[in-house]
Amino acid sequence: MENNVFEQMAMRYDTEERKQLAKIIAEEVKSELQDSKSKSLIDYGSGTGLVSLELTDLVDTVLLVDSSKQMLEVAEGKISRKGVTNASVLYSDFTQETPKLEADIIFMSLVLLHIPDTINILQELYDILKVGGKLIIVDFDKHDKINHPKVHNGFVHEELEKQLSDVGFASTEIRTFYHGNRIFMNQDASMFISSSIK
Ligand SMILES: C[S@@+](CC[C@H](N)C(=O)[O-])C[C@H]1O[C@@H](n2cnc3c(N)ncnc32)[C@H](O)[C@@H]1O
Repeated sequence: MENNVFEQMAMRYDTEERKQLAKIIAEEVKSELQDSKSKSLIDYGSGTGLVSLELTDLVDTVLLVDSSKQMLEVAEGKISRKGVTNASVLYSDFTQETPKLEADIIFMSLVLLHIPDTINILQELYDILKVGGKLIIVDFDKHDKINHPKVHNGFVHEELEKQLSDVGFASTEIRTFYHGNRIFMNQDASMFISSSIK
């Protein structure tokens, strides 16, 4: 699993800036989780749980999945310190092998940009969602000034919508919800939230 950057970052990932951004994301995602008290949620690429550990009261269970063991160790520490009883972690990379799982909701925050083959990961996530389930993606809007060999420079809504439709999602809504200073590789950027139903 190629995630050395995140392994190295784990202990110092939770900066004030990242915590603030995570709060903004969590507030936005909450509006997508109304009436979800009986639902299972997978946070794919959860990192240290900055976002999904703010959402545990809104769903039945939260599974934090990440391909960095050290990110998950930090997340596990928070789960036990906070006494959260409905969250657990799973070390996995669905681009290598997808375990047998099922979920009502899959959430992915600032992860899609790190995965080279977008269609492939969307297909894996689609396959483990229950029929009627929801995929929620938060990521950056396309940013022409950013150019990095390992990171997508954001996404165009129409292109992502087409990819989601191609893997089988019945409907998708995408909208930009936040503009911030120096939030994407030190550049001012905007974030979108996408919600798709299987
Ligand atoms: C920018 S961090 C976002 C963390 C968290 N979602 C948040 O919003 O605070 C990206 C996370 O995605 C994870 N990641 C990257 N590629 C992955 C993959 N193929 N499978 C699972 N996790 C992955 C990294 O280890 C890292 O924890």
